[in-house]
Amino acid sequence: MGNFLAGKVVAVTGAGRGIGRAVALACAAQGAQVVVNDYGVSVEGGEPTSEVALGVVKEIEAAGGAAVAVADDVSTMAGGQRIVDVALAEYGRLDGVVCVAGILRERMLFNMSEEEWDPVVATHLKGTFTVFRAASAVMRKQGTGTLVGFTSGNHQGSVAQANYSAAKGGIISLVRSAALGLHKYGVTANAVAPVARTRMSANVPMELKEIGEPEDVAALVVYLLSDRAREEKITGQVYTVAGPKIAVWAQPRELRAGYADGPWTPERIADFLPGTVGTDPMPMLARLEEMARAAAARERPNQ
Ligand SMILES: NC(=O)c1ccc[n+]([C@@H]2O[C@H](COP(=O)([O-])OP(=O)(O)OC[C@H]3O[C@@H](n4cnc5c(N)ncnc54)[C@H](O)[C@@H]3O)[C@@H](O)[C@H]2O)c1
Repeated sequence: MGNFLAGKVVAVTGAGRGIGRAVALACAAQGAQVVVNDYGVSVEGGEPTSEVALGVVKEIEAAGGAAVAVADDVSTMAGGQRIVDVALAEYGRLDGVVCVAGILRERMLFNMSEEEWDPVVATHLKGTFTVFRAASAVMRKQGTGTLVGFTSGNHQGSVAQANYSAAKGGIISLVRSAALGLHKYGVTANAVAPVARTRMSANVPMELKEIGEPEDVAALVVYLLSDRAREEKITGQVYTVAGPKIAVWAQPRELRAGYADGPWTPERIADFLPGTVGTDPMPMLARLEEMARAAAARERPNQ
């Protein structure tokens, strides 16, 4: 037991398994009272059961901690609100929310159906909004609070997970918007892009060179929720944690600009753009080429 989060109340979504479970256990071990939310679904999002959230509450209680289960679906406004309402009803305040819940429905873009797109975006992106929305209203009045969203390195793009990638990119913009909009109310917002061994990462078709355990991710989240991170004024950031590595992502910014003398025409742009503004080569495309080479050589590609 540590005391990094002594006296704090933290709600964690997707806290029944994998990374969310490790975050909930670590928060409780560091002194927080924890709302354990999990809809208890398969990787694809089906067959919900409330047993999964309850199981983690029992684990926390057995270790001497305090926790309460909420088995609602985060992709509904009512679900997000209930997580926050339960925190207030049980513990009287809400210091942090961590939105970890997620599902996968993999398909190439040209074959992807509405049933594969909508629930993935709803669980990740809307499921972060519903909880941030309800929590930020409370935190604004408290004058303090910390929001943590979960993104992925795949926000850079993905061959067969356009739905997941788009949702994860959206979460980064949502986190940065929360950081900006809530700055004057003392509320911080950051995103974590983890790489950890869970059921979700078990089927990645490549050898991950940098991967760790859910507990590595939990340690970073505990830090982000703590007063130590708040004292450092950490907000609007995206951190990767992969085993022993922690990395910060760059803020999006214009790379290179050029200006016209008069109005743009397609011809002027064709003459001007390639040599002056140019492009920013896509690292993920280079990785695709490495994967194609490895496939041709019958090797398992590295990432
Ligand atoms: N594991 C990795 O390497 C990795 C990499 C990049 C990003 N991520 C992200 O980290 C997060 C956690 O992933 P994980 O690997 O622990 O996955 P996981 O499948 O082990 O756990 C996800 C949990 O979310 C719950 N959940 C799903 N839909 C829900 C809903 N609508 N409402 C409430 N709970 C719901 C599930 O029941 C499950 O317990 C996800 O957002 C994932 O996209 C994970």
